[in-house]
Amino acid sequence: MATVIVVGTQWGDEGKGKIVDIYAQEADVIARFQGGNNAGHTLVVEGEQTILHLIPSGILHNNKTCILGNGMVINPKVLIQEIDELKGRHLLPPDTKLFISEYAHIIMPYHQRLDSARENRKGKSKIGTTGRGIGPAYEDKITRTGIRFCDLLDDETFREKLDNNIEEKNFYLTEFCREEPVDGEAIYKEYGEYADRLREYAANTSIIIDREIKNGKSILFEGAQGCHLDIDHGTFPFVTSSNTVSGSACCGTGFGPTKVDAVVGICKAYTTRVGEGPFVTELTDETGERIQKVGKEFGATTGRKRRCGWLDMVLVKQSVRVSGITGIALTKLDVLTGIKRLKICTGYKTDDEVFTESVPSNLKVMKNCQPIYEEFDGWTDDITKFRNFDELPVAAKRYIQRLEEIAGVPAILISVGAGRDETIIKKSPFEMKGS
Ligand code: GDP
Ligand code: IMO
Ligand code: MG
Repeated sequence: MATVIVVGTQWGDEGKGKIVDIYAQEADVIARFQGGNNAGHTLVVEGEQTILHLIPSGILHNNKTCILGNGMVINPKVLIQEIDELKGRHLLPPDTKLFISEYAHIIMPYHQRLDSARENRKGKSKIGTTGRGIGPAYEDKITRTGIRFCDLLDDETFREKLDNNIEEKNFYLTEFCREEPVDGEAIYKEYGEYADRLREYAANTSIIIDREIKNGKSILFEGAQGCHLDIDHGTFPFVTSSNTVSGSACCGTGFGPTKVDAVVGICKAYTTRVGEGPFVTELTDETGERIQKVGKEFGATTGRKRRCGWLDMVLVKQSVRVSGITGIALTKLDVLTGIKRLKICTGYKTDDEVFTESVPSNLKVMKNCQPIYEEFDGWTDDITKFRNFDELPVAAKRYIQRLEEIAGVPAILISVGAGRDETIIKKSPFEMKGS
């Protein structure tokens, strides 16, 4: 029985959904702790694809407790759609318990409007957000004007908070952004219906997690985005508006760090990024195109093409440090099959500096960094069929071993295909207690 946190080590889309789905078999409770429907987590089970934006990736297993934690920002319309879609596909087993933290903040239509209005105003210097209202919703949480799930469920409180927000947001939208105002009455009515639909899921989820830990149950925390999209530790301002590192699991669900047994960092065998921002190992050549095509690197949320590049260990090392990662789950190794020579970035250099431990804080410096590469032989065998590490081609093993050496932590899982079964499991994080 253990408590495991799963986080992305790069710029998101590392394959967290697939790995959480696998680890969920061993967990009793699966909880999301930050982000909202900017996330797109893909699960492929028996050839059938499911993309989850809000519901934890443990939902496809029977008899699990799935929690949307207080650190999340929740768009109720999207959540209802997700619940209905899963029910329609008979993928929400009746014995599944789904809970939404009463403290989670709610994404309102004006958050989405502000998100896109700001991006439009920025023009070339835009962040390339998902347009889901994530930043403005977290802004309201920090300025203490946000509407929480418990506020939405209390009609009087909701009315009062909504009216205050509408006045301020419409002033900003019309006077500063030169956009149309939002209709407060329509929102009040629409969100009242959402409250009625979602009321049954409301809970103090911190108490549920505490009780389950005390009962000796296994808990799995599912991060969204990746370390380098973290509001503090990422490539600011080209980041999301939440803390994506492992420590956020504690604040985002309400349990203490003394209860954490293992942290798994999900790392793609190469690097991708959606949206704007510096990317030292980006490949704008044929190899980049090949990775993009073979890896089907399109955003699971917005459908945008993901930018692709070589594996950047400066990013991964920083993630291991800031998240206290105890094991790496390496994904999409199969995508590199057939590339003759592979590169791993071990550092960045400018005319007068070398960075190996940490990404430069100054983005101007980062933009001017050149990657320092080590080169490796590739392999040609189809590795998607392998289930044991020993079966992998020698070149693939070398690639993984070098990654482990640089990261300073072992690769405990290697994913060789999108399917649940296309996986080599070396060690379960639930057996890593105290390591
Ligand atoms: P997440 O946001 O971290 O959950 O990742 P996404 O779901 O956005 O993107 C990962 C994509 O890669 C999805 O389409 C997955 O189905 C797919 N995927 C995951 N692991 C593997 C793998 O090992 N090999 C291949 N070829 N695809 C994978
Ligand atoms: P998952 O959980 C990849 C990126 C956006 C943009 C920046 C800010 O699927 O890995 P936001 O809408 O959050 O304000 O956008 O962050 N971004 C992601 N990139 N995967 C994600 O989630 C992302 N969530 C946000 O593209 O650059
Ligand atoms: Mg994704």
